[in-house]
Amino acid sequence: MPMHKKNFLDIAILAAKEAGKIHKRYFNTGFKIKTKSTSFDLVTIADIEAEKKIVSLIKKYFPEHNFLAEEQKYEKTTSDYTWVIDPLDGTNNFASGLPIFCASVAIARKDEIIAGAIYDVTRDELFYAQKGCGAYLNGKKIRVSTVSSLKKALFITGFYYDRGKEMDENLKKIRQFLIRRVIGIRRLGSAALDLCYVAAGRASGYWEYTLSPWDFAAGMLIVKEAGGKITDRRGKEISLKQKSFVAASNGKIHNKMLEILK
Ligand code: IPD
Ligand code: CA
Ligand code: CA
Repeated sequence: MPMHKKNFLDIAILAAKEAGKIHKRYFNTGFKIKTKSTSFDLVTIADIEAEKKIVSLIKKYFPEHNFLAEEQKYEKTTSDYTWVIDPLDGTNNFASGLPIFCASVAIARKDEIIAGAIYDVTRDELFYAQKGCGAYLNGKKIRVSTVSSLKKALFITGFYYDRGKEMDENLKKIRQFLIRRVIGIRRLGSAALDLCYVAAGRASGYWEYTLSPWDFAAGMLIVKEAGGKITDRRGKEISLKQKSFVAASNGKIHNKMLEILK
């Protein structure tokens, strides 16, 4: 029997916070580190346990829903609802003892994200949003920055697990930003937090070449609800169905960013 129905956002928050407890329990404890597609695509026991916890918790409330998560495949149901989950975003940081990582939990109705939560246990920062209701950090409304020129903007980027053509291209783009004398470019190592930081005005723009839906699902809604913009490199809406180039900004510098990135 499903448990008493709760609001989607409440469940996303509960699940992200439970995952945070697991992150905290394992962080810096000398756990085993395994590799996935390459020697630098890592997975730990915390990724696996956090995903199990998130999925089992959500299933108690919504057993009929679909799940799209990073570490495991789930049987498809006929429901219009899909939970999109990154149980630990920033695994390589986590595995190195660098405290920049989080859990990201979003729910989509058909192709649209309607609620999402991202929890960073190290800083006890909970970012969340519900469609049409604004974006919040620990209960306080957040807004994107008001910066309108590249020169006043701090950027974040990321590198996909590609050390070939995409990496070369991104390095060229980084140069293009730097020669325009932007404030700086950071590489933090957690796409979900990168998006939250744009939403909270801590950075004005972020881009990454190839993100998976679980990396950007919750963050995409949080950026939009904080007044920002998030598109692919052509300025088109991002689909949840596939990997995507992601450019997020405060909106004001979006076209200027895309001019460089296209
Ligand atoms: C990764 C992080 C990283 C980004 C990679 C992602 P993971 O997610 O978000 O910042 O550059 O593209 O795959 O593997 O730590 O969940
Ligand atoms: Ca991720
Ligand atoms: Ca992950």
